[in-house]
Order: sequence, then structure tokens, then C-alpha cells
Amino acid sequence: MSRLIVVSNRVPQPGAPSTGGLAVALRAALEAEGGIWMGWSGKTCPDDEDPGFTLHQNGAITWALSDLTERDLAEYYQGFANSALWPLFHYRLGLTEFARGDSAGYHRVNRLFAERLAGMVRPGDLTWVHDYHLLPLGSELRTRGISGRIGYFHHIPWPSPDVFLALPGAERLLQAMTAYDLIGFQTAVDAQNFEACLLRALPARRQGADMVCGTRRFRVGAFPISIDTAGFERRAAQAAGEPTLRRMRASLTGQRLLIGVDRLDYTKGIPERIGGFRRYLSDYPDQAGQVSFLQIAPRSRSDVEQYEALEREIATLAGQLAGEWGRLDWTPLRYVNRAFGQNVLAGLYRQADVALVTPLRDGMNLVAKEFVASQDPGNPGALVLSRFAGAVQELGNGAIVVNPYDQEAIAQAISRALAMPLPERQSRHTAMMRSLRANTVFDWCRTYLTALEGHEMGLEKLP
Ligand code: G6P
Repeated sequence: MSRLIVVSNRVPQPGAPSTGGLAVALRAALEAEGGIWMGWSGKTCPDDEDPGFTLHQNGAITWALSDLTERDLAEYYQGFANSALWPLFHYRLGLTEFARGDSAGYHRVNRLFAERLAGMVRPGDLTWVHDYHLLPLGSELRTRGISGRIGYFHHIPWPSPDVFLALPGAERLLQAMTAYDLIGFQTAVDAQNFEACLLRALPARRQGADMVCGTRRFRVGAFPISIDTAGFERRAAQAAGEPTLRRMRASLTGQRLLIGVDRLDYTKGIPERIGGFRRYLSDYPDQAGQVSFLQIAPRSRSDVEQYEALEREIATLAGQLAGEWGRLDWTPLRYVNRAFGQNVLAGLYRQADVALVTPLRDGMNLVAKEFVASQDPGNPGALVLSRFAGAVQELGNGAIVVNPYDQEAIAQAISRALAMPLPERQSRHTAMMRSLRANTVFDWCRTYLTALEGHEMGLEKLP
């Protein structure tokens, strides 16, 4: 029987309950067939030691966790993955910092993962690699004799060739990716951009539904990720009694609630969003005291310089807004760097009148989907959504779509969302829920794996 092997840089803590929808879905898939989840343990060791590698068996799942040396972490994770690839893939060439040493560290860690994994893969296993930390992993596995199906899913945007090819070593990465059998993206635009990169940089061509490059033949497609829709509906409906949420509601004293929830990341457009809210207050000064904006932004990747700078920038903007608009009995913005569990988040989403999901660029953005699924269908809140989030493909029919760079547009969208009559909120909510019910994270997982197995796409006829 074929097993599933999942590889990702971040791995949920074995034994601990999974909270994110993605982790829940992948775990369910692993439990169904049995399999291995491999990735970074989250631990580091000194550079002169061999990084530890531990296997834990938990039910049908083997957790295979590798430590990294300090240097590996600096070059592979903080360096190449998060200072070069992350900004580049989000169209931020000005923030992209490239160093050949980091690139070498990135390829070295991919080799290390492949060496450790290769001995565990059996013929017939399906291997599913996740995200930009591991672009060359498939090719490293092929070098070590793995000939079974290997798929890759890219969770973040894939930019146009003019942006991607600005990366030194871009061709090497593309070439390595031809080792996969199926390369999945969040949206059709990302898939098209990737194909355009292949056609521009490699001697690759399209043949029917496949891409062909040398001896490799593979598929490229869009597989939009989603959430556990029913799970969120249930959590949100049950959360109202939670003491934290009761206290939150009491503290609002009747004010309308705007909410933003993001990792503290420069792709999320948080400064622009705070600017948009400030503009709203100056355009509609009678609303002062009537609305409260809760921005939850847990710190992320704080060892990377651009993230530290962003943290300072947002703290300054939040302080300025509070100083300028705050009153003795009202603060316009509640800015919180803590992370909250899914139950509390679901309850907060349901309490909110409007969600501001305005990333400058985002592969999908699951907060938008979670907010919609958490609403009370009898009195749903409104979603303000960036035109540059992948989620707009599915939720654009019900959201107020904005250009996240345009602070005046954000201000107008806030006003429109707060004034939206109930029947319009309901019909927009119904339209968005239709998409969220039709494609849950479990459907995403099944659709991708079925395609990788080749049933739907006829890959079994391939050499
Ligand atoms: C994004 C990426 C993931 C990553 C997550 C958290 O969603 O697509 O691969 O795990 O951010 O970032 P971190 O650097 O903390 O793993």
C-alpha cells in the first residue's frame, strides 16, 4: 500500500493537537494511509556538531525531525528563504537580499533533508513537498534514486519572470523543480507565471497538458487551499460564552468592531491599513468613539532585519494614531502582538462588524476565509479584501475589494462596510459561503493527492 510522505520546514509539534487547518488536513491524510511527516525540529545545535535527527511514532504517523546547525538556520532559513525568496516571491525586489553563502546554505540543507529522507522512502510512496524552503528537495531525492511520485505545493505567490529572474541562481532552482511530477500553486495566475519562467529560462515546452523539459515531463496546476469550513462555523457559534470574548464584548461598550489578524509581516500591508483607518477617522470625525480597530499581529521571524524594522514602524504608527485620536474614555486602535488560539479567533471574527484583510500580496490568505466562515448568517459582518490576495479569486463576489496601497480607498471601504444594509451583507455572505463549502482544506488535500497519484491527470501513462 502506498504511504504518504509530507515534507515541510515547519512541522506541527508531534503529540500536540494541530490547530491550523492545513496541519489538521495533512495529518488526517497521513493517518488514513500511514506515513511520515518530515521537517525541521525547531532546534539548533552548534556549528561543529552533527545536527540531530529523531523519529517519533505516533499512531500511523512517523515524525522525522531534523535539527539544524546555527549556521544552517542563518543561511537557509533567515537568509535565503526569508531574506531572498520570501520578499522576491511577494514582488518586493527592494527588500530582497541575496548572498551566495546563503544560497549555498539553502542547497546544503535541502541535501541534508534529502539524505535523511531517501533511506525512508519505499517504492510506491507518494512524497509531497511544501513551500519555498524546499524548492530543490525533489531533485535532491531523484539524485538519491527516488523514482516514485513527488509533488510540490507552493503556498505563496509566484511572480512574473521579470521579477523571478532577478534572483541569481533562478535558473538552477527552476531546473531543480522539473524533478517534481506535479507542481501546485494557489491560483491560475501563479501557475501561469511559473510556466512563463520555465519557458523563458529553460529549454522547456508545453506538450498538451504537460510541461516537458529534457527527459522530465510534469504537470503544473492551481489548487487553491482552504479551511475547515464546518469546523470554523462550529467554533464561532460556540465561542460566544468564552470569558475572554465576553470581556472583549463588554469593553467595546457598543462600539462597532473592525478586525485585522496577521503575522507581523511586511507583505500584510499593516502600515497602509493603519493609515487607511486614520484617514477614515479624519474623513468621518463623527465616528470617533463609535468604532474600535483591533489589530492582532503576532511577531514573526524577528531575527530577520526587515521584520525588526517593520515592528518599529507599526509601533510608531499605532502610537501616533492613539496619541492623535485617543480620548480619556476611548482608544481607536487596540494593537496586540500576541497570538490567539483558533477558538478565540473564531469568536472574535464573529463579534467583528468588518474584517480588514489588505495584504500587499498574499498567496491565499486564510484569515479572509476564516472570518467569513465564522459569521452569524443572520447578521454577518462584511469583508474588506485586497485585490492582491489569492483569496479574492473565490471571495471577490462577496467582499468589498480594495487596492491595499490606496489608503483613501481603504477609508471608503471601511465606511461602506459599516453602513452596509443587512440584506446586502447576507447575500454577500451566502455567496462567499458557497465557495467555502465547495472547497474545504480536506477537498484541497484530496484533489491534490488524487492528481499526484495520476488518476485524474493520466500521469500513469507517462514514462
Ligand atoms: C507562511 C509560509 C509558511 C510558513 C508560515 C510561518 O504561511 O507560507 O511556509 O511556515 O508563513 O512562517 P515561519 O517562518 O514562522 O515558518
